[in-house]
Amino acid sequence: MGSMISISDDKVFALTNAEFSYVFRVLDEGLLQHVYYGAPIAHAEELASHFRVDRGATSHFQGVPNLNLNDLPQEYPTFGTSDYRRPALHGVNADGNSVFTLKYVRHTVTIDKPDLDGLPSARGGESETLIIYLADPLHGLEVELFYTIYQNYGVLARSSVVRNSGKAPVDLTHIMSSTIDLPPDDYDVLHLHGTWSREFNAERTKLPMGRFEIDSARSTSSAAHNPFLAVMERGATETSGNVFASTLIYSGNFSLSVETGEFEDVRVLAGINPFNFAWHLAPNEAFYTPEALHVFTPYGLRGMSRIWHRFIQNKVSPERFRNIARPTYLNTWEAAYFDIDEAKVLTLADKAKDVGVQMLVLDDGWFEGRRDDTSSLGDWTADMARFPSGIPALAARVRAKGLKFGLWIEPEMVSPNSQLFEDHPDWALQVPERKPSLGRNQLTLDFTRKEVVDNIYDQIEALLACGDIDYVKWDMNRNMTEAGSTALPKGRQLEVPHRYMLGLYGLLRRLMEAYPDVLFETCASGGNRFDLGMLSFMPQGWISDMSDPIGRLAIINGASYLYPLDVMTAYIGPSPSHQNGRISSIKTRYNAGALCAAKGISLNSLDIDTDVDLLRELMRLAANTSGDFIGGEFTRLISDDTQICWQYITRDRRTIYVAYFHILSAPNLPFRRANLADLDPVAAYELQEDGTIYHGDTLMQHGLALPYVTCGQPQAGVRYMDRGDFASHLFVLRRKR
Ligand code: GLA
Repeated sequence: MGSMISISDDKVFALTNAEFSYVFRVLDEGLLQHVYYGAPIAHAEELASHFRVDRGATSHFQGVPNLNLNDLPQEYPTFGTSDYRRPALHGVNADGNSVFTLKYVRHTVTIDKPDLDGLPSARGGESETLIIYLADPLHGLEVELFYTIYQNYGVLARSSVVRNSGKAPVDLTHIMSSTIDLPPDDYDVLHLHGTWSREFNAERTKLPMGRFEIDSARSTSSAAHNPFLAVMERGATETSGNVFASTLIYSGNFSLSVETGEFEDVRVLAGINPFNFAWHLAPNEAFYTPEALHVFTPYGLRGMSRIWHRFIQNKVSPERFRNIARPTYLNTWEAAYFDIDEAKVLTLADKAKDVGVQMLVLDDGWFEGRRDDTSSLGDWTADMARFPSGIPALAARVRAKGLKFGLWIEPEMVSPNSQLFEDHPDWALQVPERKPSLGRNQLTLDFTRKEVVDNIYDQIEALLACGDIDYVKWDMNRNMTEAGSTALPKGRQLEVPHRYMLGLYGLLRRLMEAYPDVLFETCASGGNRFDLGMLSFMPQGWISDMSDPIGRLAIINGASYLYPLDVMTAYIGPSPSHQNGRISSIKTRYNAGALCAAKGISLNSLDIDTDVDLLRELMRLAANTSGDFIGGEFTRLISDDTQICWQYITRDRRTIYVAYFHILSAPNLPFRRANLADLDPVAAYELQEDGTIYHGDTLMQHGLALPYVTCGQPQAGVRYMDRGDFASHLFVLRRKR
């Protein structure tokens, strides 16, 4: 591997692979100046340095003529020494002021990628890491900036470590993972916003002067704003134009912001949300930020998603489940809700077996006293009235039918009405003298405390130790409020949300190590904590509670900007939909999730009986093809208000799936085609439904004829969409030879 990191004698650092170059330098004053981020450049030494001019009415950094930090692109800026924009690092030092000056001390380059202390991070391999050491000797503050570049990915991974090597504590409020100062241009910003059951709406908007920020202060990454933001050239499209995109491997309070300064340069900051955050850094202590990932591509949003998807598949998702087909499943939630018992589970298991489903998942309602959502979280033993055999025996009976067995838990929560809370009222997050604000009638456990995490570990272990639980759905159904800890002193209460995340990640790490073969699925009322932090431990996630297919299409489409469909689960839920009342066909309910890695059903016995033949057909198809939907390449071909068309090429590039959805029917519509992408232009592909052979160039340039949407009488020789609203069609093409 040739070195991807070059360092000149005058300290110009250039990170270059086939996808991008990232360049910065050390100024004579010791400050780090950002120089370039974009398409690869071979001669970083030729990059023009920033002009120093007296623009008028500006401040000059610590006596250096015309060095105005407000006008200087930087790598890890601080506040109070002529830069007035939001900084990477901010806080109060022992003198009571907030002025820090970080200067270059030294650097190291390591092959591969070090782990982050206590936090999940992308895996290394064919990578190199540059570490820059900065220091402010006046306050004994040291900062290490980590930059990892990969041989085969357009991804730059960044994080920072702040150490207190001084004699006095420092109270920090901003400890960002990364700053990227982009040059002036006309930019748009793309982000994903939403709420419960309507997650992942993509909004593209003109980047304003001033600040644009998405963040979370809910202590979950949240459905309101997924931790993803892309700054793109105004003219960039789905297939062309420069895009700079960022995300974080973190599941708690985050901030992604873009600030257009007075000289129109654009600062992207990524990290823990500085709002309502403080960290008391005592002498000899260090703080590790979460890892930020940045993508550059000149190939528009499709190019961006390609890079994210491949990187998440290979470097973020747990290695143990890489390229492993996921079982199809029947989940009891929308089949029975809390009206569940052993007999019903066994009946549903028989139904599941009959329609060819591979796993029975027992969702909420199985533990002591849990008959609705007002009680019992924290008491993870079976309700003996309804599950007299206990979970291990039930799991064994389900498995004896030739199925896998999965179980729902919500380990981070406690109901005020539970034994755990009665025994340990101080184990819930709380602040003194305030009545707690409940969410779904529950409180959040204080995972900053080791004894709380240990108790939950032991309870989960007591379940998993039987060896018959193949899958766990890990839910989390409220945002935090009154997020204080009885175990931490007054001065450290604003550390609680991040300490909580460290406790959670520690618990997950222990569990994954002890039970490497259990398939974990992350869920938080659907997509309230769908992020790369959770997805680095768990190979899949329940992206939304919206199981109506049309509602879900938009959610999958939006999420696909960042996440591959490998990490998404989908099931055929009831119709009319319990979320929006829409009536839709079983076929469209299947097709909406057809390209997701994990598929199943959540239907009651009656609904299964009504459509048993079709369900058999679809669940067998799902089981037989589930290996196809891991590690392949997903592309958004068309997404507008009336239609969605997605393409998926399997890992071996031999099978192409094209899923087409027409939302509302109408008369006399145009004949439409979809131009497929990234096929082999000279290869022949056979359309499975009628045996027609098309070559790759035909399918890409002329396109695949989409079924005609009409209300009129069918005629011979025309490929029709199903009649009426919410129609869908799944094409399969196989490469010949
Ligand atoms: C959350 C999940 C659902 C289901 C319920 C159970 O809402 O998103 O899928 O598991 O909890 O209470």
